[in-house]
Amino acid sequence: MKRFPPRRTLIAPSILSADFGRMADDCTHVLAAGADLLHIDVMDGHFAPNLTMGPDMCKALRRHLPATYLDVHLMVEHPERFVRPFASAGANLFTFHVEASSLDDAFRLIDAVHAAGMDAGVALNPATPVSTLDPFIARADLFLVMSVNPGYSGQAFIPESINKTRQLRAVCPNIRIQMDGGLGPYNAATARDAGCDVLVAGSALFRLPPENRAVCIRELRGEDSSV
Ligand code: DX5
Ligand code: ZN
Repeated sequence: MKRFPPRRTLIAPSILSADFGRMADDCTHVLAAGADLLHIDVMDGHFAPNLTMGPDMCKALRRHLPATYLDVHLMVEHPERFVRPFASAGANLFTFHVEASSLDDAFRLIDAVHAAGMDAGVALNPATPVSTLDPFIARADLFLVMSVNPGYSGQAFIPESINKTRQLRAVCPNIRIQMDGGLGPYNAATARDAGCDVLVAGSALFRLPPENRAVCIRELRGEDSSV
């Protein structure tokens, strides 16, 4: 299984906010600026009210960036249909939504994701109780706490996500917890303090001029940005 990069706070730029006309360059640049992996937001117009990208984007990034950890966040119905296409496209992490599957189907899906050589993530919408993740504690490699409703970059952060993360961290000290939506340097410390150790950032990072992104990444990670 392709395991996560080593244990520290990881910064995951969401490429949904990148310049689609310059995707490989934008991604290469944020990685050089200190980002740890790339977050690929897949939406189907059903589970989420937007259409974004699919396995072909993942495949193209894999071709340009052979060593980069590719984190695929599926906001889709029937996520099981996409295990093979994303494994073939070079994805490392396959995160699906707990709201999109029955419990039995979700267990089978995690097994299929692992059998296909990917890490398995389980995501939680803002309105879904955190206890819904309990059955997955011994099975998943990562939990994703959504801090906006799936759909678009640039939405306002939902503060209750912090409490949910704290509750989740209390019952699973060792699993990666990712937060996604409305994060930036101004609220990253609160997310980290609550137990989040993978921070997704879309608009906060890509709306900056390229030369300012390294400082933003250090601030998101909680490092001294003056060094
Ligand atoms: C929302 C996506 C997020 C989003 C993040 O549905 O899952 O990854 O693009 O973008 P920002 O950081 O701008 O909220
Ligand atoms: Zn996402």
